[in-house]
Amino acid sequence: MHNQLIEPAQAKINLFLHVTGKREDGYHTLDSLVCFADCGDIIRARPADDDTLTLALTGPMAPALADASTADNLVMRAANLLRDRFGIRQGAELILEKNLPVASGIGGGSADAAATLRVLCKLWGIPARPAELAPLALELGADVPVCLEGGTVFMQGIGEQLTPLAPLPGFSMVLVNPGKAVSTPAIFNARDGEFTEADLWAKDQSFADVTALADALRECRNDLTLPAVTLLPEICDVMDALARADGCLLARMSGSGATCFGLYPDAQMAARAASAIANANPDWWVKDCKIAPPQG
Ligand code: C5P
Repeated sequence: MHNQLIEPAQAKINLFLHVTGKREDGYHTLDSLVCFADCGDIIRARPADDDTLTLALTGPMAPALADASTADNLVMRAANLLRDRFGIRQGAELILEKNLPVASGIGGGSADAAATLRVLCKLWGIPARPAELAPLALELGADVPVCLEGGTVFMQGIGEQLTPLAPLPGFSMVLVNPGKAVSTPAIFNARDGEFTEADLWAKDQSFADVTALADALRECRNDLTLPAVTLLPEICDVMDALARADGCLLARMSGSGATCFGLYPDAQMAARAASAIANANPDWWVKDCKIAPPQG
């Protein structure tokens, strides 16, 4: 591809997610520690000959999006929103390499939208500061601002209040999805009971290594696990499989599920866990990866 720009759309991991309240508009307020994995989707962009925007889908998970209208894809919605707000006339040819399972709690669609905003700002020469893009990101979805921010982030509000934190110690992960999509609104709607107190996580703490991080994370939870497991019991099997693998320090669901992650001290242990889980469960999506390195 000539003049092609490439932008990663990294998988988003909610290391914990506390639901702290509900707003009048139905959205829930959260406290969540978010980091990103060094794997994900990829957005490629190049200038179009005219003013049209086109989107092509490739990658192993592309068939899951093929039935939906292209205009509804978050990549196209992000591109159109950016064009409208900044009065851009140019078009673009976009390609989404869909590697992450869709509707799976690791922010595939949100990361794609954020990567589209980033790549098109470069392609179209929009000198937007992050503070100008954040409201656009929020219009596209509650998880898009955190994906635009990247790094290690403490996320509050419905996803718009972001505090960048010091990088976490390096660790390896295994991501596992049972091959079934779950609807985020359905999971939030199925949640009941008390809300978790806000600000339980000290934002200024640092960790000597991943074992210390996992110890601290065990004091927290993902409050969407119970409703998610009720709607999709296989999530329990996924968490059990991760937790049983040698060396697993913590196994937990990300976002509204169904993808769960396991934390492992090193890449060899993660690779061994991933191949054992994949061999025993050929229908599951299994990926070993690392926490993304701190940004430049
Ligand atoms: O913003 P997004 O489109 O990702 O949210 C999808 C749905 O998930 C919302 O309509 C809402 O029902 C639910 N949600 C929520 N609280 C959040 C994020 C999402 O209740 N913080």
